[in-house]
Amino acid sequence: MLNIPTQAFPAPNSQQRIGPSSQSGRNKVALKPGHSLMDWIRFSKSGKDLTGLRGRLIEVTQEELQKHNTRDDCWTCIRGMVYNVTPYMDYHPGGEEELMKAAGIDGTELFDQVHRWVNYESMLKECLVGRMATAIKGTHTFALSISVSVRKQAKRKWTSLGQPLEFHNTFLRKKDRALFYRNCVLVSKTEVNHNTHVFRLQLPRGTVRHVPVGKHVYLKALIKDTEVVRPYTPVDQTMAAASHHSSQDSDLYLMIKVYPDGVLTQHLNSLQIGDLISVSGPEGTFSLRPLRDVTHLYLLAAGTGFTPMARLIRLALQDIDTIRKTKLLFFNRQEEDVLWHRELDELAANDERFQVEYVLSVPSDGWTGRKGRVDECILKDFLSRPDVSKCYACVCGPTAFTELTIGLLKQQGFSEEELHAFQG
Ligand SMILES: Cc1cc2nc3c(=O)[nH]c(=O)nc-3n(C[C@H](O)[C@H](O)[C@H](O)COP(=O)(O)OP(=O)(O)OC[C@H]3O[C@@H](n4cnc5c(N)ncnc54)[C@H](O)[C@@H]3O)c2cc1C
Ligand code: HEM
Repeated sequence: MLNIPTQAFPAPNSQQRIGPSSQSGRNKVALKPGHSLMDWIRFSKSGKDLTGLRGRLIEVTQEELQKHNTRDDCWTCIRGMVYNVTPYMDYHPGGEEELMKAAGIDGTELFDQVHRWVNYESMLKECLVGRMATAIKGTHTFALSISVSVRKQAKRKWTSLGQPLEFHNTFLRKKDRALFYRNCVLVSKTEVNHNTHVFRLQLPRGTVRHVPVGKHVYLKALIKDTEVVRPYTPVDQTMAAASHHSSQDSDLYLMIKVYPDGVLTQHLNSLQIGDLISVSGPEGTFSLRPLRDVTHLYLLAAGTGFTPMARLIRLALQDIDTIRKTKLLFFNRQEEDVLWHRELDELAANDERFQVEYVLSVPSDGWTGRKGRVDECILKDFLSRPDVSKCYACVCGPTAFTELTIGLLKQQGFSEEELHAFQG
């Protein structure tokens, strides 16, 4: 049974909430009580007529779309389909102001800039007004010729030519392509701490899914008739050196914290070994290019924001020769929350190029390490810029942590080019 969130998240005065002046344009707002995703699902499936068209679908002209541009009558177009988003306004985690930016216009680009992965089709199924009427202004024709030469491996007759692959005969830019999901089998679930597990997922036979370091995948599940999608960053099976486990291993390992009121994580937690879950291809903006010639890599993580750092640490130690020092500053509430604590300590003990420091906000009496939250003083102690060094910093955690830390790093002299924030 799903626990349905009743309170706004994060709480209105929470550190995780950021003010409307934030520059990233990715603010989450305080939703009114009774306006969580589960509340929206319940409301939209209640049988109410959410478009005023009693289920009829219409062709919408540009002129018609433009007329519906107010808070109380708001239509928007996404990928050619028009939705009445008026009833969704109070349920939108990005807030009314953001949604209104797409009022009466084609909101596809705005939508994609923030959350290309959000499953609007499923969420807004009952709000569908119809399709945009298309006026064909002209056609572009171009010819493309590709020749492929193949050699038979075995000298015998082919019995079939197989099936065309997905997107066969289509030409789409990656950013315009919908996320592609595969059904993976949950093969094991290993406890990491009191609320976090590593979920090991096996791809369908004969398929490969390489997720580059720093990229994430999306998990998708049908929950109460609505597709719910959330991003997760794969980790390796362990923090130990790559050679310790099989390079044949193509399974995905996702370290996931289960929230008592989390919609997707509660679903994941209820899966049995052998059950299926949909997993997308890799996404994300992280690139290894800026790490070229870097000598000092600083990683700042809070909670499950550790996940992209796990593979990055290994990569830095094993594959990037120029990096002389990799330092992780890891923020958590309590000692029991620290992920892969022992593994990190072991790695630091075995490789002098790696250093880890923990900061706890609510430590127990016996804690002798650092206490508090991210601030200028903690960062000053953590960062060093030796002469003839090239530094790079990566940050990952709740949005407010990430934004605050990025701001503090800039105050410490880090430029945009020397920083990466992992975000959705
Ligand atoms: C790019 C990216 C990569 C991510 N990688 C991982 C990962 O590897 N492992 C992982 O566990 N999570 C990761 N997350 C977070 C994850 O996508 C979900 O937000 C999280 O699992 C909660 O989903 P939910 O549906 O269970 O909770 P929701 O139903 O969305 O939220 C309900 C409750 O969950 C809790 N909650 C949700 N999000 C947060 C948060 N960010 N901080 C604190 N509390 C929260 C609150 O208790 C809230 O009331 C990542 C997020 C992003 C953007
Ligand atoms: C019209 C259909 C839309 C739907 C169904 C929708 C849905 C959502 C959902 C589900 C989230 C929560 C994502 C999460 O859990 O991290 C969200 C967040 C957000 N949305 Fe939308 N959205 C829509 C349109 C838009 C548009 C047009 C904009 C911008 C102009 C926008 C801006 C935002 C922002 C800024 C957030 C907060 C992002 C974050 O915290 O990372 N949304 N939206």
